[in-house]
Amino acid sequence: MTWDELYSACSSCQGCELAKTRTNCVFGTGNRNADILFVGEAPGEQEDLSGTPFVGRAGQLLDKYLYAVDINREDVYIANILKCRPPKNRDPLPAEEDACIDYLREQVRLIKPKIIVCLGRIAAMRLIKPDFKISKEHGTWFEKGSYVMTAVYHPAALLRDPRRKEEMLADMQQIKSKLDSLKD
Ligand code: URA
Repeated sequence: MTWDELYSACSSCQGCELAKTRTNCVFGTGNRNADILFVGEAPGEQEDLSGTPFVGRAGQLLDKYLYAVDINREDVYIANILKCRPPKNRDPLPAEEDACIDYLREQVRLIKPKIIVCLGRIAAMRLIKPDFKISKEHGTWFEKGSYVMTAVYHPAALLRDPRRKEEMLADMQQIKSKLDSLKD
C-alpha cells in the first residue's frame, strides 16, 4: 500500500462505531522517513477537530519534552493506536483497537523507524506486551527485530501527576541518546 492509498482508506474507514462520531480521522503526521515514531492512544477533542495528533494540552507538553531533548517535531512521526476519537476520551475498546491497528502496522511498514516510543500504557500494552506496567517499565528497551521499542508516561498523565515529570525527562534524554547512537 502507498501512503495515499493508506490515507484514503483510513479517512473513509467505517470499521467501528467511532466512525459515526468523528469529526476527522486523525491519521498521523510528521516525517514519513523518520527514525523515530511516537504512538499515543487516541485523538482527543482538539485532535478530532483539527485532524492532527497531539495538538491539545497533552500535545503541547509533548512538544516541550521534544524541545528539551533537542528533537524536532518535524523530524519525527506521530500517530495513535486509534485514528478516531472515543466519546468523552474513554479508553479504547479492544474491538476498536483490533479494527484500527492495521493502519498503524502499515504506517510502521512504510516509515521503517529505528525506534518506536509508546506514549502511555494503552500503546505500550498494545505494541510491547499486554501486561506492560508503565510505572515499572517506562524507559525500558525492548528489541523487536528491525527496531527497538520503549514506553514513556503519557503526557496527559503528567498533567494529572506532575511528580512524574523528572522520570519523563530522564526517559526522553535516554531516547535522544539512543537515537543519536543509531544514526552513527
Ligand atoms: N492523546 C493521545 O493519546 N493522542 C493524541 O493525539 C492526543 C492526546
